Amino acid sequence: MDQYGSFAYVYDSLMTDVDYQQWVVYIEALFKREGLAPKKILELACGTGNITIPLSLRGYDMTASDISEDMLMVAADKAAESQARILFLQQDMRELEVENQTFDSVLCLCDGINYIVEESELLKVFSSVHKLLSPEGVFIFDISSYFKLKNILGNNTFGENLGDLCYLWENYFDEETDTVEMDLTLFIESDALFKKVEEFHLQKAYHSEEIIALLKEAGFRDISVYEAFKLSSPVENSERIFFKVKK
Ligand SMILES: C[S@@+](CC[C@H](N)C(=O)[O-])C[C@H]1O[C@@H](n2cnc3c(N)ncnc32)[C@H](O)[C@@H]1O
Repeated sequence: MDQYGSFAYVYDSLMTDVDYQQWVVYIEALFKREGLAPKKILELACGTGNITIPLSLRGYDMTASDISEDMLMVAADKAAESQARILFLQQDMRELEVENQTFDSVLCLCDGINYIVEESELLKVFSSVHKLLSPEGVFIFDISSYFKLKNILGNNTFGENLGDLCYLWENYFDEETDTVEMDLTLFIESDALFKKVEEFHLQKAYHSEEIIALLKEAGFRDISVYEAFKLSSPVENSERIFFKVKK
């Protein structure tokens, strides 16, 4: 049961209520706040390119990677359709390799970091990003908060009938590992029948303090933490938290 296999082809249909434009506007506001005008950007866990493509069309030189070949296939098709020139790489961010290059900014948005479930692996990701970032560069990422994964998604079941697509999303929060085990069952209409697709996803609930400690261990010094899409600090029940990090 691969993550983001067949699911990749219906991912966008399930994300129609997500305002990706809000991410683009916010990232540019954070660049501006740093007095930065980045040219070269590396996006990790780019998925189907919902943030990558608008950034490319706004003139940034985008390199975008993801572990899932299927998500990248969808992203590449959409990029071609919108005539966005993006270099896509299939890569596990725990084994990041982009030789002889640095980037003005590295991004990892909409839960990519929550998929790294071991602290030692997250440290490896942060250390690789530190190496790939230019001296003045900025690393921006967000997480679904501990509060959201434990109290809103964890031990909860969601489902929807969208006509040609139905899904069941059953979650279990493991108190020992602070992870949410997600069983996703999709019924996708195909030739007047419905194909059943099952995936298992595992996400880690991180406290901001744990992330900050790992960032410092990876060598980052200038770390800001924000309530999503704001410039204020997160609060106890924040659901999404952004990190803006420099060397
Ligand atoms: C919730 S999706 C977010 C996709 C995209 N950033 C967006 O905003 O729509 C999470 C993405 O993380 C990717 N992912 C999970 N683990 C990964 C890893 N170890 N390395 C690279 N990508 C990973 C998945 O394939 C998926 O595309």
